[in-house]
This record gives sequence, structure tokens and C-alpha cells, in this order.
Amino acid sequence: MAKNRVVLAPMTNQQSHADGTLSDDELVWLRRRARGGFGAVMTCAAHVSADGQGWPGELAVFDDRFLPGLERLAQTLRAEGAAALVQIFHGGVRADTKASGLPAFSASALEGARAASEPDLERVIVDFGRAAQRVEAAGFHGVEIHGAHGYLLTQFLSVVQNQRTDQWGGSLENRARLLLRAFDEVRKQTSRAFTVGVRLSPENFGNAKGLDLDESLQVARWLADRGADFLHISLWEALNNTAKRPSEHAIPLFKSVIGSQIPLLVAGKIWTRAEAEQLLVLGADAIALGRVAILNPDWPVQAASPSFAPLRPPVTTEQLRGLDLNADFAEYMRRWPGFVV
Ligand SMILES: Cc1cc2nc3c(=O)[nH]c(=O)nc-3n(C[C@H](O)[C@H](O)[C@H](O)COP(=O)(O)O)c2cc1C
Repeated sequence: MAKNRVVLAPMTNQQSHADGTLSDDELVWLRRRARGGFGAVMTCAAHVSADGQGWPGELAVFDDRFLPGLERLAQTLRAEGAAALVQIFHGGVRADTKASGLPAFSASALEGARAASEPDLERVIVDFGRAAQRVEAAGFHGVEIHGAHGYLLTQFLSVVQNQRTDQWGGSLENRARLLLRAFDEVRKQTSRAFTVGVRLSPENFGNAKGLDLDESLQVARWLADRGADFLHISLWEALNNTAKRPSEHAIPLFKSVIGSQIPLLVAGKIWTRAEAEQLLVLGADAIALGRVAILNPDWPVQAASPSFAPLRPPVTTEQLRGLDLNADFAEYMRRWPGFVV
């Protein structure tokens, strides 16, 4: 599907209109990376339900009214030769209730969110399927289901955040039920030619809490058995070994459970071509670039040259504006330590 193994990592950028429709700013930011040679370009996490919105200015996929913008984005990215993917998610307790105007729910009652009811969960599963169907209808090549970083699907996987005693909590089978049912629904509502991948946090990091490497490997195995087209592991420090087994790297571990047929995508502080190649040697099939792609929109083209030294932070907001980030996105980057002067 993709012309190379370099993927633009999903990045929340707050550039959509307040109602979730695509803005020209968001289109221009993604088009610049597609033009810069990224084999696949992934959108920010886009909410599948109105109450799943994570931030103001987030791209939405929960209603047909978003179709015209999504179609324009898909066409633009395809015209630049990139595989076009939308990351789909639900924020759960991390949803921004101020932005959505709706109450939040999670696996269990926590931090102001109520525990999800059975109808909430059946509705979210349907929403994932409908969102994926919409994304396919808009002309994208596929979706990535966001099961990482402590959003709703991770909140269910978590032994800390999920205290339920019904079929959605307790055993790993039960905690993984929401993710697996959402995956099955997405598969069911889209054609076989449509790519459906999943992003996981293999271990605890930041907002991803209550996870365990071996449980994540089991979840990956179930996803592979159910027909996932790719698995994306979010490592944050992709060159490091796992926290649980410091002598082992996540790539061979995940590769051994999902098998050689399913591409494994890896992200986390990859800046140079040499670092990317190290991960490919370990067995990754593709690499996803986040921060380096903000500063180096032509990374895939430039990395062909052995002397390429990517621009690194800190940078000024003016520099960011020159790289096709609008004022809101440039400001948002201040939240990332050391990124903006
Ligand atoms: C500004 C910004 C926004 C991000 N938004 C998302 C997101 O919407 N979904 C997601 O799965 N990861 C998100 N991430 C994480 C990245 O996809 C990536 O995994 C992480 O930044 C590590 O890669 P890097 O070191 O190349 O930046 C975001 C990262 C950044 C810097």
C-alpha cells in the first residue's frame, strides 16, 4: 500500500474547526508531509463519538457531516502519493468535556467520569464501526484503532483504571473485550481491502497505566488472529529494551506473537536514518515519526542522503509557522518539554 516504510505518526494538532470539521490549516499541515515523501500519513486521533473528543480543534469522524472534509483530505493525500490513514479513538475519561459539552465515562468511575453502562459500550462499539465505514467512504486507505496512551480502550485494558466485575472487567479476556469488539465491528463495517490496524502501548508510560508487557503481547496475538492488517507499538523510546525484561526488545517479542505476515510499526524518538535502520534490523516493518516530522516535513526524501542531519528542538513558534503549523498548533507544542524556545 505504501511506497516506503516511513509513516507520519498520528499527532493531535488542534487545527480542525471547533465543530470537528477539517480546516485548511490541518489539510496543509498533512499535505506538506505527504509531499515530503511519507509513505503513509496518519491523521490525529479523531473521535468516533461526540463524547469521545479529546481536545478542542480535533478532527471528528462521528457524523456524516464530516464527510466532505474527510473526502478532501483523503483525495489530497492520495494525490501526493501517500497512503492515507485516520486514527480513530474515544477519549473516555481523557475526553475534554468542556470541548464536547458532554459528560465523560470510563471503565470505572474516576476523575469525574462515571462508569460506562452496558448501552454506552454497545454504542461506542457501533460508533467505531460507523466511523471506519465513513473513513472508507471518504476514500482513505485505512484506519488505526487507537488502543494506546490511556484513552478509553486502554482504560479498559488497565488493571488500575478498570475495576469492573462484569464481562468488561477482571480477566484479560474481559478487559480486552471492548478493544476486540470494536476491532471486529470495524472489520465488519469495512471492505476486506480496507486496512485496519491497531496501536497499543506495550507497557506503562505517562497516561497509559496498569498495563503489562505479557498482557499486551496476548492482546496483540488476539488482534493478529482476528485479522489485524498491522500492529503499531508506541514505545516513546524505541531504541530501549522493555521495562519488564530489560534484556529484551519489544520488536522481536511482538513480531514473534503476530507472525511475519502482519507488519509491525514502531514509534518513539526516532530522529535519524541510522536509528530507523536499527529498528528495521530488530524486525520492525515500518517506522512512525512524530516530532522529527514536525520539524522535518521532507524527512523521507532527505534521509536518502547520508549527510542529512535533521533539524532538532528547541525551535521558535515562527519556525513552526514556517513548517505549516498554525498558531494554535505552534502554541500547543509548548506543552512538549524543550520543543519550543
Ligand atoms: C504534538 C503531538 C501530538 C500527538 N498526538 C497523538 C495522537 O493523536 N495519537 C497518538 O496515538 N499519538 C499521538 N502522539 C504520539 C506520537 O504519535 C508518537 O508516538 C510520539 O510522539 C513518539 O514519537 P516521536 O518521538 O517521534 O515524537 C502525539 C505526539 C505529539 C508530539
